[in-house]
Amino acid sequence: MSMRTEYLRADAEAVRRAAEVIRAGGLVAFPTETVYGLGADALSAAAVTRIFEGKERPRGNPLIVHLAGIDALDDVAAQVPARVQDAALRFWPGPLTLVLPRGRAVPLMTTGGLETVAVRVPAHPVARALIHAASRAIAAPSANRSGRPSPTCAEHVREDLDGRIELLLDGGPTSVGVESTVLDMTSEPPTLLRPGGVTLEQLEDCLGEIRLLSSDDEEAASRSPGLRFRHYAPRAPILLIEAGTGERAVVSWLEAGKSVALMIQRATALERPHLTLKTMPADSAGYARELFGALRELDSRGVDAIFVEAIAEEGLGRTVMDRLRRAAS
Ligand code: TXA
Ligand code: MG
Repeated sequence: MSMRTEYLRADAEAVRRAAEVIRAGGLVAFPTETVYGLGADALSAAAVTRIFEGKERPRGNPLIVHLAGIDALDDVAAQVPARVQDAALRFWPGPLTLVLPRGRAVPLMTTGGLETVAVRVPAHPVARALIHAASRAIAAPSANRSGRPSPTCAEHVREDLDGRIELLLDGGPTSVGVESTVLDMTSEPPTLLRPGGVTLEQLEDCLGEIRLLSSDDEEAASRSPGLRFRHYAPRAPILLIEAGTGERAVVSWLEAGKSVALMIQRATALERPHLTLKTMPADSAGYARELFGALRELDSRGVDAIFVEAIAEEGLGRTVMDRLRRAAS
């Protein structure tokens, strides 16, 4: 599979061009407020098949269907429970994905064979303009090669998918930086399948009790297929360590002649040859925004290991820690 990928700054003309590609069954990478998505016509099994091929994604891992607004839910969901309205009114457009009973129009290829469908209304103006111009629901996983960190700028998409997709709309860096929260609305209480850009605290405030699944639980794997597959696998091992222990941890590796990176939220006086320091923002929103870019950058340095200090698990910190644990496992 090789084609020339077209790169366009995401102006109105480029969005029109991208919409034509989607309508013709092709692949377009586009910015959302979370990460870049790799989009195709969600209701075309042939178009969606190309997404799986393009990013080498395992077939059983279902895709998120992106909609123009809450009114479009009836096109893709078999039923829309009242609580879905509450969540949608509060968080859409935005980084929340809701899992609902699958509507007949949605091919099983899109849902990875499941009788449920994941949907979200993105907030990014380019994503919204593209869905409108294509007048299609757009299936889009993150626009990375399977096993790489999600892309938060156009250059990340180019690194992973050049020559494998028709078009990339460059809308600059994304603002949230981590993927959407995935919430299963077919259970009572709703089940958190993936922490993301909307925090658990915000969900509880809107919907009351939220069920949590631990990632090693068998039921979790059957309800959230994404958990079965390896994520964010960097070339260098990532070692997640307690806050405050970074200096001690890296020094023994440096003394053994290794080159290492240290991702840390606080200031440190440590300075050594063969040590790459990456100071991350002290606030969890800033940390989330820079997380995937930092992992890509440190991994490309060819270090022997990447040490990362744990951060507080509240708000977006929970999402950051989820991604760090997956990257470290
Ligand atoms: O922010 C995001 O969600 C980005 C942007 C592009 O919208 N998309 C994204 O897609 O992160 P992806 O494919 O990388 O992650 C989708 C997650 C996977 O963990 C998948 O297993 C889960 O959503 N998912 C999709 N459909 C599902 C379903 N019917 N039931 C349970 N989980 C589902
Ligand atoms: Mg992904």
